[in-house]
Amino acid sequence: MKICYLLGYPVEHSMSALMHNASFQRLNLPYRYELRSIPPGDLVTFVEKELRTPKVRGANVTIPHKQAVIKALDEIDETASIIGAVNTIVNKRGNLTGHNTDITGAHRALREYFGGLYDTKVAILGAGGASKAVSYLFAKKASRVSILNRTLKKAESLAVTLSRLPECKAEVQALPLKYEPLENAVKEADILVNTTSVGMVPKSNETLVSKTLLHRELFVFDLVYNPPKTRLMREAAEMGARVIGGLPMLVYQGSEAFKLWTGRNPPEELMFKTLKENLGEDQ
Ligand code: ATR
Repeated sequence: MKICYLLGYPVEHSMSALMHNASFQRLNLPYRYELRSIPPGDLVTFVEKELRTPKVRGANVTIPHKQAVIKALDEIDETASIIGAVNTIVNKRGNLTGHNTDITGAHRALREYFGGLYDTKVAILGAGGASKAVSYLFAKKASRVSILNRTLKKAESLAVTLSRLPECKAEVQALPLKYEPLENAVKEADILVNTTSVGMVPKSNETLVSKTLLHRELFVFDLVYNPPKTRLMREAAEMGARVIGGLPMLVYQGSEAFKLWTGRNPPEELMFKTLKENLGEDQ
């Protein structure tokens, strides 16, 4: 039996184990997915002592470890290294490689529900690990990327990193997450992405964007998947915008991680079904 861990702090709310374990069982693979809540101070020791052992095939990495885990790994694939965030680790005979499947996950979700990203204008809320993946994706294709964050410095540093990339096509700007900059960015945006945890259970009545700023030309992508319809999504839909939640990205990033660990394509329909049943509402 091989183990794949989810490393986070906390991780109890995560639904990844459900979709991965259902998929391992369906394909008769001798794998098990387990949640591990690791305080930041214990992360490197856990990686050293546990992740390199033969029984472990790899891990997913979530809040708050996506950036901090990098220093504990042996190799980082190209895109994960560019953005400085790892959400998937593969253990090959004690050698640990970091990947970022959030990029592919977000890209597939957007391709399916929005379409091509070329020449779009996007407003991205947040500048953490998930934002790095989404902002990178847009920097290569969009015409303008506005990154709005409560801590402006983090948005600025991300904007500088992206602007310097040879593959960056967009004008990338960092803005404080305040009413006026948000109003301007959302007004001109084709797409609004929430990469923060605001709106997630148990505080599902919170939102970072006033309803009056939302409009019918907007496509809203909220990475939060629990609840399936966040307040932001609900209000955006009421204002005539198209909306999607975080479920497709959760499944697609998980699917990519599954392929890296097992070399097999997971049954994505089963992943969707398992998660929807547990979320208790239809997307
Ligand atoms: P993840 O890996 O999911 O992106 P993260 O790296 O911890 O998680 O990043 C969380 C993001 O959500 C950050 O941009 C954070 O803003 P700060 O950089 O200012 O901390 C944002 N965030 C979390 N809670 C928030 C809140 N209540 N209001 C505004 N932004 C919030």
